[in-house]
Amino acid sequence: MNPTFDVIVIGAGPGGYIAAIRCAQLGLKTACIDAWSNEQGSPAPGGTCTNVGCIPSKALLQSSEHFESASQHLGEHGVEVKGVSLNLAKMLSRKNEVVSQNNQGILYLFKKNKVSFFHGTGAFEASTEGLYNVVVTPKGAIAQPQTLSARHVIVATGSKARELDLAPFDEERILSNDGALRMTEVPKKLTLIGSGVIGLEMGSVWRRLGAEVTVLEGLPEFLGAVDEQVAKEAFKLLTQQGLKIELGVKVQSVSQSAKGVKVVYTNAQGEDVSLVSSQLIVSIGRIPNTQGLGAERVGLALDERGAVVVDELCRTSLPQVWAVGDVVRGPMLAHKAEEEGVAVAERIAGQHGHVNFRTIPWVIYTSPEIAWVGQTEQQLKAASTPYRSGVFPFMANGRARALGDTRGFVKVLAHRDSDEVLGVHIIGPSASELIAEAVMAMEFKASSEDIARICHAHPSLSEATKEAALAVDKRALNF
Ligand code: FAD
Ligand code: NAI
Repeated sequence: MNPTFDVIVIGAGPGGYIAAIRCAQLGLKTACIDAWSNEQGSPAPGGTCTNVGCIPSKALLQSSEHFESASQHLGEHGVEVKGVSLNLAKMLSRKNEVVSQNNQGILYLFKKNKVSFFHGTGAFEASTEGLYNVVVTPKGAIAQPQTLSARHVIVATGSKARELDLAPFDEERILSNDGALRMTEVPKKLTLIGSGVIGLEMGSVWRRLGAEVTVLEGLPEFLGAVDEQVAKEAFKLLTQQGLKIELGVKVQSVSQSAKGVKVVYTNAQGEDVSLVSSQLIVSIGRIPNTQGLGAERVGLALDERGAVVVDELCRTSLPQVWAVGDVVRGPMLAHKAEEEGVAVAERIAGQHGHVNFRTIPWVIYTSPEIAWVGQTEQQLKAASTPYRSGVFPFMANGRARALGDTRGFVKVLAHRDSDEVLGVHIIGPSASELIAEAVMAMEFKASSEDIARICHAHPSLSEATKEAALAVDKRALNF
């Protein structure tokens, strides 16, 4: 007889491993299957986020920011550092160590919560008498495939980088996010296609380390999903730092020679331009990962992009099969995947798990950081929603001056009549941390006056949020 569980989770990224832990907390007998291996061939749970996404990118963003700060900005504080040099091998090995600590942390949590972990690829085999059979195929020929059974299955198989047909990834010269995080030399010239989140974060890392970076974007506008005022400020600040961003381009061809990778594109003025660089990073979005899942064997419905079709409760076309995270509709964010994982575990246990899609924060970890929650000013205008806006610049914030980083602002958008906060948009220092207050405010349906009446510590960056809320009623105190 097959080992039988209440729940099998396929994938141990942030969606899957969190779902497995929550299932186990709720008393469900849980297995989690994940295919990711580290360089030694050992299990490396944590998915894209831990291995080639959120965690390693933030490690390199931090290290490269320290490098740039030591070379260019510490002098302003009277800290004179001479002979700053880059040890890229050490920076990469620190990043790898941070990744490994996270992999180990997840294995520890599985043990602590009594989640049975299986290292290998999971695929649906069949469904019989209310049970799903899932076969686990380990990598290599060391162990035999094994079949597990469960009443419920949660698919959390994530996503992978989308290739440009003209330029398939080789991870040497033409890189996805994976190769972009492990270049062993700083390229003299680096081209990126796509000025989305990965393009800006990875472009920032390698520019700070010394590369001459050009980002080619197909759309005519920069960061179209971001509040226009913030996107405009971001474009100004990022290009001032030396990122070259070309909008409205059409990539015509990509070829390789001894000199490097040549990208020929038509720019917004209709001219053909040729750009040769040592490496090319393609960051044009991600696609759901459902290859090899055996969806067809059990009749699990996929859409035309290969995503698992789900309703608002993450139920698939099959009874007791659920799907969460990047493999389903909605934003491809680790915290969205986690929230769905928790909600599904609670639904399986008979509770009422809930995800509020209106209050999912977004962060872009450039310098300064960009963070937002809720609706943008252009969305409010398009929906003819009456609103008031309050903006407060970090230039007028004492803590930002003391830090030596006064770039950017906080913007609060509130309903004109009810004063309910409809969106908060931040570009500036520690925006990733400041946005949490705005998420909390919106989750509790706060008004801008509520935020304005809360006592914020002085001196702190969060005072800029209070002041922006006061500015909605045209009564900012420090500006
Ligand atoms: P994944 O993390 O992709 O995990 C899926 C797991 O399932 C993987 O381990 C995979 O090997 C495994 N798997 C797939 N198929 C099978 C199978 N058949 N059997 C067994 N295992 C299988 N998001 C943020 O919120 N903040 C960030 O700062 C951020 N930074 C990012 C930076 C980069 C460079 C990238 C690429 C992404 C970033 N993201 C960030 C997005 C984030 O990584 C994803 O939204 C998140 O990882 C999705 O989680 P998931 O659990 O759905 O899938
Ligand atoms: P993205 O969707 O953020 O950006 C892709 C960009 O490429 C878009 O601006 C698009 O217009 C452009 N593009 C598409 N095709 C093109 C073409 N042929 N030529 C030129 N430009 C083209 O996707 P990205 O940056 O690859 O990241 C994928 C996802 O990973 C993000 O959407 C996000 O969900 C997640 N992520 C989140 C991070 C965070 O939360 N800080 C960090 C990095 C990734």
